[in-house]
Amino acid sequence: MPCCYVLDLRLAPRGMPPATYAYSILRELGPGETVRIWSPEEPALLMAQLQNHLRHTLIWRTVTDGQGYLITLHIRGPGELLPLADTLRRDHDDMDARLVRSLALADAGRWIEAVTEVDGLDRALRAHILIENELLAPLAADDAREPTALMRREHDDILVQLDAIREVCLTPDAPCGDLSTWLGLLAASLNKHEFREEASLFGAWERAAGGADPGLLDTVRRRLSPAVS
Ligand SMILES: [Fe+2]
Ligand SMILES: [Fe+2]
Repeated sequence: MPCCYVLDLRLAPRGMPPATYAYSILRELGPGETVRIWSPEEPALLMAQLQNHLRHTLIWRTVTDGQGYLITLHIRGPGELLPLADTLRRDHDDMDARLVRSLALADAGRWIEAVTEVDGLDRALRAHILIENELLAPLAADDAREPTALMRREHDDILVQLDAIREVCLTPDAPCGDLSTWLGLLAASLNKHEFREEASLFGAWERAAGGADPGLLDTVRRRLSPAVS
């Protein structure tokens, strides 16, 4: 990584969180650019927040001198495709965002828009689950037997919840007051499920995908929600 400008988080305006300050600078940079960040604090949380804001396009490495942390951070360019795990994390984030929008619309009683948003979430989540069950679970069937079995059970529960959500708003022009409740339950399930999956399976899938069919990643990208590909 050729380098670069250094952003010192100690210079953040008073009261502004470090992640907000860093993002306000990074959003002005373009794909393919590299920057360094000096952080007085251990940066794991900061980088998780930035990765979320920048849709998993970041690659970084960190060194410390005992006084602080120097992070060299690169924003993937157009020719630098996301690896499998980041592709899946981005899809998780996109579905979470859809769920938040659905909840906000339902809470505001904007049923028609809420149902449209829920339809999109339903399609994205079913496609995501199918890919994980059919294409990815076999990659780590031996190395991660227990997490894989748990993932499949949670997928079954989530699909039951999606079926229930479809049922509550069959007539989108009428108020469907149970929608918020069901979406809240789905949000709780997804939150735990995504966290477990990312922690216990994504690494195994990423390693196995390295030796798998080179077309696998293209297939995953093609079948996930359009925002990912
Ligand atoms: Fe899953
Ligand atoms: Fe997933």
